[in-house]
Amino acid sequence: MIHSLRPLVLAACLCVCARLATATTAAVMEPSLYSREDNVQILNNDTLEIELYNSSSCSFVQFINYFCGDCRRFASTFKRISARLYDWRRLLTVSVVDCAQERNVQICRDYNIRQTPTLRLYPPHFQRTAQQIGYDVDTLEPSAINAKVAEYLSQIKYTTVEQVNFAAITAADSAPTLHKYVDDCRAVFYIVLVYQPAESTIGRDLLLELLRWPMVAVRRLADQQLFANFGLPSSSKLALIDCMDNAIPLQPVEDATLAYVASVSKYLQAAGFDAVAPLATTPAPNVTKFYVDEEQAAIISTVLQGQPKVYRADLEQAIDKLLHIELPKVQLFKGENMRALQQLLNVLRLFNPLNASGKQLMDRLHDFVGSIDASGELSGVAFQLQVENHERKLAKVFKAKRYVGCVASGPFLRGFTCSLWTLFHHLTVESAKSTSLPPGAVLTAIHGFVKHFFGCGDCVQHFLGMAERRKLFEVRSADEQILWLWEAHNEVNQRIAGDSTEDPKFPKLQYPSEQLCNSCHNTTWNRLEVLAFLKGAYDRRNLSSYGLPTPMGYD
Ligand SMILES: Cc1cc2nc3c(=O)[nH]c(=O)nc-3n(C[C@H](O)[C@H](O)[C@H](O)COP(=O)(O)OP(=O)(O)OC[C@H]3O[C@@H](n4cnc5c(N)ncnc54)[C@H](O)[C@@H]3O)c2cc1C
Ligand SMILES: *[C@@H]1O[C@H](CO)[C@@H](O)[C@H](O)[C@H]1NC(C)=O
Ligand SMILES: *[C@@H]1O[C@H](CO)[C@@H](O)[C@H](O)[C@H]1NC(C)=O
Ligand SMILES: *[C@@H]1O[C@H](CO)[C@@H](O)[C@H](O)[C@H]1NC(C)=O
Ligand SMILES: *[C@@H]1O[C@H](CO)[C@@H](O)[C@H](O)[C@H]1NC(C)=O
Ligand SMILES: *[C@@H]1O[C@H](CO)[C@@H](O)[C@H](O)[C@H]1NC(C)=O
Ligand SMILES: *[C@@H]1O[C@H](CO)[C@@H](O)[C@H](O)[C@H]1NC(C)=O
Repeated sequence: MIHSLRPLVLAACLCVCARLATATTAAVMEPSLYSREDNVQILNNDTLEIELYNSSSCSFVQFINYFCGDCRRFASTFKRISARLYDWRRLLTVSVVDCAQERNVQICRDYNIRQTPTLRLYPPHFQRTAQQIGYDVDTLEPSAINAKVAEYLSQIKYTTVEQVNFAAITAADSAPTLHKYVDDCRAVFYIVLVYQPAESTIGRDLLLELLRWPMVAVRRLADQQLFANFGLPSSSKLALIDCMDNAIPLQPVEDATLAYVASVSKYLQAAGFDAVAPLATTPAPNVTKFYVDEEQAAIISTVLQGQPKVYRADLEQAIDKLLHIELPKVQLFKGENMRALQQLLNVLRLFNPLNASGKQLMDRLHDFVGSIDASGELSGVAFQLQVENHERKLAKVFKAKRYVGCVASGPFLRGFTCSLWTLFHHLTVESAKSTSLPPGAVLTAIHGFVKHFFGCGDCVQHFLGMAERRKLFEVRSADEQILWLWEAHNEVNQRIAGDSTEDPKFPKLQYPSEQLCNSCHNTTWNRLEVLAFLKGAYDRRNLSSYGLPTPMGYD
């Protein structure tokens, strides 16, 4: 079947390869999950610290990996949160950094971003130190995020936004002393006094909600008796002080933030004031900047037309991204994760599909890392330098910049994670042909990679759960190792089939389909047939070079 198709696929390959050769080195424009219209700035290695260090307001930064399903699923929630936080923009800016971009490796390592999405808060004029890399928000639940951001903002002493003061007033305060701090009625016309009993956050929350009303400053009373300083009864809960130091008591319908906001804003509107408008809610497109250029369109159509194959280009992309992004992002290899690095490099050294100079690179990296003894350590920076140094001395190893079998027909689909699966299957199949490693060693290396280095939080959680449930460490033969990974992958496919990370052109089916391998299917899987099928499909001699810029460069 595959044989009869080969001439056709090859013919298509030759003409596309010729065009690819000229264009693959051009960087593919990365799409972005967020845009300015969402009240989200896209920052990178060049801009993040300028923003954090120089900002007179706080910063709320989401670190993502564009390939991570959770980041994609979280995007619409984050957009809603961010649109709401626009109302607090006098105190807070919202930004995103994509740690899956090679240019951001160093900055994401400096900030020790392990799994994504990671949400962090920063004070005005933040300065990073080894200990200070931001406050972890540590939840993805919108109301919990809101509460943590509010609490964080209320702990900051603002110097440039003088009318914002979360501190409770003191017994020494009166109308004239409060007015001194708020520019004597040139911009701030009212001071709102609000009683916040112990355990309540109503004063803090009212201050935040009234940020849209720049003509008021909110001050909190922890002691209700202090209303007397303003000529108000000590049973008061909410009042305004105007520029003439007159006290105006307000009677909200209940003790709830929104009722207090309604009460104040009703008064202000009657006095002729208006709030600043909230963010215009013409929702930004969910994804900006995704172009399918000519080469990508050619790849998509070729891949869809031909019999499914395993493409060398994807394996190369996976190794490229591992060496240049996922591994150097680690701050320190030591102990367990050093062992994981050594095991991974050992497997890659033995079974990678790279050409002569690629194999040399993997050998040298393996030897270097392997020479560090069990108690030694290696920084991510030093690892990155090793990769760069060896690459400089060798013929260019990674020339391709495109996925082929893992090509995506839309933004944030397939790509890196698809290429990782492909590489892992390839490694289990190649390992079964050799006796260099004990059975199970490839799965152990994959497990170590996922546990210590994979920047996709939900993937890690699920995979480690699966490894335990399916007893990964009890796999006793090379064939079982191939089948273990096949079954595990099918379990993932089943769980996430049809969700927003599925590419409609490449649906997540149980693999191999009947069409691909009829004999693999009986009433249940025919495991022997599946094994034979996988051994054929993922064998290095069956890899297609289609889509690589220099197919002749491989030996
Ligand atoms: C270890 C790991 C764990 C992951 N966990 C999650 C998760 O928990 N949640 C989540 O949303 N995403 C997870 N992902 C990502 C997800 O599995 C897919 O990689 C991603 O959605 C892209 O899917 P895809 O359609 O390109 O095909 P992929 O599932 O990535 O598969 C790549 C290719 O492998 C082949 N293939 C498919 N199934 C099999 C099989 N059973 N055996 C052999 N070959 C097969 C097909 O040719 C397919 O195109 C994980 C990825 C990895 C590497
Ligand atoms: C802060 O901004 C000033 C100019 O606005 C710039 O010169 C300076 O380098 C910035 N600081 C940092 C840490 O980037
Ligand atoms: C950011 O990354 C780009 C691309 O790798 C690089 O040219 C630039 O020097 C980096 N900037 C900083 C501040 O590290
Ligand atoms: C964006 O995605 C969300 C959730 O997936 C969806 O409800 C919404 O309609 C999308 N918006 C646009 C403009 O496509
Ligand atoms: C399907 O399975 C049954 C029972 O194990 C077996 O007898 C039969 O030969 C199988 N058919 C094929 C086509 O493998
Ligand atoms: C390549 O794939 C074909 C079709 O699946 C298979 O018949 C052949 O044995 C495979 N080659 C190798 C070397 O495994
Ligand atoms: C592969 O190796 C050859 C010679 O060893 C080299 O010229 C070529 O650039 C290498 N890389 C690629 C991607 O072909």
